[in-house]
Amino acid sequence: MDQIGELKHFPRIAVLASGSGTNLQAIIDDDIEIALVLCDNENAGAIDRAKNSSIPCEVVSKKDFKNRESFANELINVLESYEIEIVVLAGFMTILPPAFIKKFENRILNIHPSLLPAFTGTYGKGTITATLNAGVKVTGATVHIVTEEVDAGPILAQGVVEVFDGDDEETLHERIKKVEHRIYPQTIRQFVSGGSTYLKEER
Ligand code: GRF
Repeated sequence: MDQIGELKHFPRIAVLASGSGTNLQAIIDDDIEIALVLCDNENAGAIDRAKNSSIPCEVVSKKDFKNRESFANELINVLESYEIEIVVLAGFMTILPPAFIKKFENRILNIHPSLLPAFTGTYGKGTITATLNAGVKVTGATVHIVTEEVDAGPILAQGVVEVFDGDDEETLHERIKKVEHRIYPQTIRQFVSGGSTYLKEER
């Protein structure tokens, strides 16, 4: 596939989520067309958000698979059956194996609740705990392309959040999420319109 900006159609996007899905909601509210919401557990709040907006939703339960590779293979099968071209991770709690990343090379986006490369390799609340423990005064959110090295892919956008005295995990994460909800939809739009050189390679 050539650069996304040269496509005659808006690319088919899947949003992968494990949790409450507030980032998914921000993407929905921005009127970005989503072809599929894919969750890894049946308790994900993202499922209801997809249903409320009449977006196709599938659940592939991670617990039904003996390892990450077989789980990821099933994810690939589902994504292919929906002819997905872009994968948007929005609080998806699995580190994707190399085979998955190769399949969608340069077409997987993630949002991480820190200013990468600070506080890599931690998930959701774990990142916020590490941030508070480090005593930094400024943090934020990063949108990046997913590569094999966790949290190390090319950075597409960042937003800054001040850490206040007396912040706890909840208050800080809430303020970070506000920034995430602003920058993620914007960045997805830029990305799919060919605004990134990382879309140039053939698939
Ligand atoms: C966000 O903070 C995101 O940065 C991280 O997981 C959290 C997901 O939150 N990867 P939500 O499910 O979108 O509310």
